[in-house]
Amino acid sequence: MRKLIDLPSQESEKTLDKNEQKTRPAKVKSPVKSKGQTGQNMKHESAEKHVTGKAVYVDDMPEYPNQLHIAVGGSAHAHAKIKSIDLTSVRETLGVVDVITVHDVPGHVDIGPVFSGDPVLVEELCEYIGQPIFAVAADTMEIAKAAVAKAKIEYDVLEPTLTVEKALEDKFFVRPTHQLVRGDAAKALAEAPNRIQGQQHVNGQEHFYLEGQVCSVLPTEDGGMKVYSSTQHPTEVQKLVAEVLDISLNKVQVEIRRMGGGFGGKETQAAPLACIAAIVANKTGRPVKYRMSRTDDMVMTGKRHPFFNTYDVAFDEQGIMMGSNIMVAGNCGNSPDLSDAIVDRAMFHSDNAYYLNNTKVVGHRCKTHTTSNTAYRGFGGPQGVILGELMMDDIARHLGEDPLTIRKRNLYGIKHDHIKVEHGEKKGQVDERNQTHYGQIVENNVLPELIEELETTSEYWKRREEIKQFNANSPFLKKGLSLTPVKFGISFTVQFLNQAGALVHVYTDGSIHLNHGGTEMGQGLFLKVAQVVAEEFQVDLDTIQVSATNTEKVPNTSPTAASSGTDLNGMAARDACLRIKAGMVKFAAEHYGAQEDDISFDNNHLVIAKKLDSKKGEDLSIEEQRVPFADFVQQAYMGRVPLSSTGFYKTPKIHYDRASGQGRPFYYYANGASVSEVLVDTLTGESRLVRTDILHDVGRSLNPAIDKGQIEGAFIQGMGWLTTEELKWNDQGRLLTSGPATYKIPAVGDTPFEFNVNLLEDKPNREETIYRSKAVGEPPFMLGISVWSAIRDAIASLADYKYGAQMDTPATPECVLRSVQATKEHARKAAQEQKA
Ligand code: MTE
Ligand code: MOS
Repeated sequence: MRKLIDLPSQESEKTLDKNEQKTRPAKVKSPVKSKGQTGQNMKHESAEKHVTGKAVYVDDMPEYPNQLHIAVGGSAHAHAKIKSIDLTSVRETLGVVDVITVHDVPGHVDIGPVFSGDPVLVEELCEYIGQPIFAVAADTMEIAKAAVAKAKIEYDVLEPTLTVEKALEDKFFVRPTHQLVRGDAAKALAEAPNRIQGQQHVNGQEHFYLEGQVCSVLPTEDGGMKVYSSTQHPTEVQKLVAEVLDISLNKVQVEIRRMGGGFGGKETQAAPLACIAAIVANKTGRPVKYRMSRTDDMVMTGKRHPFFNTYDVAFDEQGIMMGSNIMVAGNCGNSPDLSDAIVDRAMFHSDNAYYLNNTKVVGHRCKTHTTSNTAYRGFGGPQGVILGELMMDDIARHLGEDPLTIRKRNLYGIKHDHIKVEHGEKKGQVDERNQTHYGQIVENNVLPELIEELETTSEYWKRREEIKQFNANSPFLKKGLSLTPVKFGISFTVQFLNQAGALVHVYTDGSIHLNHGGTEMGQGLFLKVAQVVAEEFQVDLDTIQVSATNTEKVPNTSPTAASSGTDLNGMAARDACLRIKAGMVKFAAEHYGAQEDDISFDNNHLVIAKKLDSKKGEDLSIEEQRVPFADFVQQAYMGRVPLSSTGFYKTPKIHYDRASGQGRPFYYYANGASVSEVLVDTLTGESRLVRTDILHDVGRSLNPAIDKGQIEGAFIQGMGWLTTEELKWNDQGRLLTSGPATYKIPAVGDTPFEFNVNLLEDKPNREETIYRSKAVGEPPFMLGISVWSAIRDAIASLADYKYGAQMDTPATPECVLRSVQATKEHARKAAQEQKA
């Protein structure tokens, strides 16, 4: 007999798939659907609270009467040894209650998240400007800040390393160099008819979350800590607070209702604040709040890694890559933090969407005496992808072809009659140019189709001609156009992180309480997971209350990162719902004298559809009874049915052997493409984004409104990274752009005049993700690369599109002008050569 609901075994994807088919088209459907289930456009669960100021962030929480406030004193030098510290006048400041140094740490001093290298407070060796040395606890933050300035610290100043080049030269690394190799790159490079080299400096990026780093800590009666932390990773905050205090994990509770943005910057960077606050709270027995000022936040906490990338690529007459030597060198700052995984992701993504053929990809983790760089939307992926796109543009210029033509020829899965298959002939499985350099097969590749559709809807070729005309008649203002795709791997590349838990309660009035391990940072995770629960019980979305992420409700969580928040927590929540439903259905069948098969959930009701006279699969008539969900829950409660459950999920199929650089690190790929048109003033170097068309693949969308918001926001953030957001350090390693006056994030006026954002239709994820959706948080960030490429395109028009001058990022006016000069110089030389 076909049962309506099976508990999914964690291993069996087949079961999940069957369940999905069962729950989706409900057997008995009323014309009215309950409100807010998956697939519907629903606004963010806190949208109104966000705009009316009612949303509570950590700094908005009521303060305790005896609460202390923290300010931290940091190193004045990028590289120095502390000779002596005199904190007497700091301590004597009126209103200062306590001052702590490393000697006040009861437990672990090193709070490195994966590898050691991050002392919570420095004892002797300072490795970046602003590195915390001591913390002041005072009655107000102002007093604490003023007191910090009174410290007398003497240093032995040492020579700092501040550039990737210097670190490469000295082999000064935070982690060993790693490489991915396929075939014989050297041979291919030597033999191919065409070969070019290029390089780029890709600058970092400040997260600029609207809410800065903050935490509030309260000592408990059991010698533990209750921690409110604006963090993407409550479990890690819990663990590190426990370690610095030398207490067990069960004594520390971490809670976060929402962040005012994280963007990766609160994956590891929130923990140091919580640790410092907890040490003070432990020592003084008083509640402690630590909120960083914007300047401290920008100077002291990690950012996106700047990268220095080089390539040497060989290609045939059609521009199809035959071999390549690729180097990506991340500027990791002073400690490993997450840099191993971040540079790995840059290495995985240096192909972007293109078949690299014979290749050697080398990834360096350079150490510099700057703040330790960290996760930022894309997690190294963008810094790899932009190298792939640089190669495409440069190959096109070399051959005098349109870059889009070259991109399409190099896409995964595109076969060429004149190229014989060379790699991957293992066990009879022939590589048809669809295997990555790390061994993962690019399955269900939607990009060729997606690009073709976008090419048509954006009228790429028509506009290409118009732009050429415009440029021919416009001496100084030049237009540029570029289409760039994205292929982004979804999953944590560290396998064990790909797991999640959830907790669902159904109360006797039919209202539902949902909790899971994911954190809300504006991306709409809480809403999407609530929609999943609404879908499972077929109830209105407003039946479901989501509560703050809390380590006491769902333990041992992974960070909300790698775009996998919905994939993981959505599935875990669904698992919890299925468990509760299984009990409900069993009870309903007994209670109403029906078969389990006859029970379903529909439009806020439990439906019993009894087959009255059934002979061997022939249903003659059906008697239908509908019980309001709340009434049924009350019955189930009286019938002593469990109405609460945990849920769990782990991602199937993934495996990766880092030593051999082979495996399937990603469950699937998310894809998209964008076409950007820019206008560049070649006299001033200013540029302006005129129009962007995006087609992005989110599988079967759980919430198209939220997904489009993510795509638009990510694109603009990517554009900001590559155009206006410039991090500048002086030759002492001091960050000069430490506030919004000098660091320019995109404003509303920077959005393109025409912005067409669409979701790829009718392409459910072929993998069995939550309702066949695809992750959306990070992938569209890389769509911003089309803006950078379009600016280069406009500049290339100065040399008849035959030269691709180096253009580092961000493409500030200065940077654009340098590229303009180089291009004009090239054109002048070429003209001279032609005359001669
Ligand atoms: N969207 C908003 N509004 N705010 C954020 O901080 N972070 C991004 C992305 N979208 C972010 C955001 C990053 S870096 C990631 S990894 C994902 O959201 C995390 O959430 P998800 O896994 O639920 O998509
Ligand atoms: Mo996102 S960089 O994975 O937090």
